[in-house]
Amino acid sequence: MKFFIDTANLNEIRAAYELGILDGVTTNPSLIAKEGIKGREAFRNHIKTICEIVQGPVSAEAISTRMEEIVTEARDLASIDPNVVVKIPMTREGLRAVKVLAEENIKTNVTLIFTPIQAIIAAKAGATYVSPFVGRLDDISSHGMAVIKDIVEIFANYMFDTEVIVASIRHPMHVLEAARLGADIATIPFGVIEKLIQHPLTDVGLKNFLEDWKKVE
Ligand code: G3P
Repeated sequence: MKFFIDTANLNEIRAAYELGILDGVTTNPSLIAKEGIKGREAFRNHIKTICEIVQGPVSAEAISTRMEEIVTEARDLASIDPNVVVKIPMTREGLRAVKVLAEENIKTNVTLIFTPIQAIIAAKAGATYVSPFVGRLDDISSHGMAVIKDIVEIFANYMFDTEVIVASIRHPMHVLEAARLGADIATIPFGVIEKLIQHPLTDVGLKNFLEDWKKVE
């Protein structure tokens, strides 16, 4: 199972990378805006910097909505670094762009996926990755992980090469469930990565060990 970090914050990316568990990064326009990045060149430079920190797939999202413009934007984003994966929203125009980009060997991550059917369509178009959003489904009283279960099963049925990125993760149980279901990747916010490490019994146990060691010294 691969772990990506879902952030555009360089300090968070560096800190997660130093843990030795980071395989890649996903960003989106909201995460880029949160970092106060202004303008296309600053955005490109920021993605380049992320690629210098993490030697793995780095998703950068196209914001165009028409097929021809998505393709042009994707080619530009892919030229930043060989590890850039172009994130493309799950739309009719987006799918057409994915098909063209697949033929050019440009990697794509089809985002804003909420049903197994959308994931099948994206895989058939040639997506390298699909990103179903579990937290946003849970937020509207749907069952996000049920969608992951179906996608993983369907992709295995047909031996699709497309990898499943569990996105919109809110807490450690989403990561655990993603692993149990055999999802290829979980893209995890930094705060949740920190929670994966922690356990109160670990803290209490360590405190007691250190106190007892004082009797030995
Ligand atoms: O990056 C896509 C996805 O992970 C967004 O998550 O928390 O905004 O639903 P969230």
